[in-house]
Amino acid sequence: MKVLVIGSGGREHSLCWAIAKSDKCDELYCAPGNAGIDRVAITVPIPVDDLDGIMDFVEDNGVDFVVVGPEGPLVAGLVDRLEAAGIKAFGPTARAAEYEGSKGLTKDLCAKYSIPTAEYARFDEPDAAKEYIRIHGAPIVVKADGLAAGKGVILCRNENEAYAAIDHIMIESAFGEAGAEVVIEEMLVGEEASFFALVDGKTAVALVTAQDHKAVFDGDEGPNTGGMGAYTPAPVITADMESRIMDEIIYPTIRGAAADGRPYKGVLYAGLMITEKGPELIEYNVRFGDPECQPMMMRLKSDALEMLLACTEGRLDKITLDWRDDAALTVVMATDGYPGAYEKGSEIKGLDRAGRLKDVEIFHAGTREDDGRILADGGRVLNVTALGKTVGEAQKRAYKAVGLIDWPQGFCRSDIGWRAVGD
Ligand code: AMP
Ligand code: GLY
Repeated sequence: MKVLVIGSGGREHSLCWAIAKSDKCDELYCAPGNAGIDRVAITVPIPVDDLDGIMDFVEDNGVDFVVVGPEGPLVAGLVDRLEAAGIKAFGPTARAAEYEGSKGLTKDLCAKYSIPTAEYARFDEPDAAKEYIRIHGAPIVVKADGLAAGKGVILCRNENEAYAAIDHIMIESAFGEAGAEVVIEEMLVGEEASFFALVDGKTAVALVTAQDHKAVFDGDEGPNTGGMGAYTPAPVITADMESRIMDEIIYPTIRGAAADGRPYKGVLYAGLMITEKGPELIEYNVRFGDPECQPMMMRLKSDALEMLLACTEGRLDKITLDWRDDAALTVVMATDGYPGAYEKGSEIKGLDRAGRLKDVEIFHAGTREDDGRILADGGRVLNVTALGKTVGEAQKRAYKAVGLIDWPQGFCRSDIGWRAVGD
């Protein structure tokens, strides 16, 4: 069949890499892709938000199945348009994708269906928001309701920080329309964990556990990024914890979403806090994690295309997924300055040498090719991913590959996986 993957990050490179191995895949396209994806798929220069362009390409080229990587086109309704045109598409419809697009909507779902989450309130007016902060005190968390590229959450240690957060989001409009409404919530204490399940509307299948590192510097210090690395499995999610998460969070969500007219299909990515009381939902994303997807795809033994198709066609109750027992770990290499300002265009050498190491794959994120040279073209640029018998072994192997990459303008954290090493 002819498959089109939408996106240009390391997540989409790993999805293309996995899908390309399937016997069912006759032709693989990626829009817009990057220099690494170009080696496993035919890249087509259509931006992810050009829904008309994507629809035209699908129809002109007889694409059978579209896998949508990022949240933007999901929230914008790409899956709805594809389904209306009779094309199979992996990912939720716009109504279901709103669980990522509006934090308040997810909190209301939790309240209505008794899904454990931090106590909260929603406001579209700054004075009322500040009054709530005065009553509840700090620490407290202030969030822009809409999509803010992972930056719309402000953890406030005292009330003044919380008032300033309200001004920043609602009055200075730091996140534009995404901050027209805020969610204010109790600060949860515990260890964070990500949980991924494939959902076909009725059935949910847990994927292997994974954890990312959001902070830019070693020791989980510094500003948050899209993710500086990830590993699987994540020891914080034991088998017991997994069944609690499925029973207390994932299944009530699927039933509630369907009852509320937003039946969910695709991958449901739950950001959790494992507290003393048990798992609590921080937020939902409606897509695979980036970079968590990269080590997960390295561990997947089953046919990735068949897995995504089964989810799309409502057949998850009929499949079982096979995973390697090995651990896997991804180190993100980013351009100096990220997540602040950075320059594009520096040359990266040594990728072939590093990629030839056994059990190592280098997934590209922000790269482009120019006359045979690979150039950095974004903030997060490379995802150096390795397998190992343990997270520690995967970590050693990934950093060995990093050491072979010659890119003076790039940097990475040196401690990815630290919580899981030695387990
Ligand atoms: P979100 O974009 O909602 O996942 O929030 C980004 C980050 O803020 C999360 O990964 C957590 O580290 C933190 N966070 C969000 N909500 C809370 C909360 N209620 N309590 C503690 N930390 C939180
Ligand atoms: N790794 C964080 C995210 O995908 O949102």
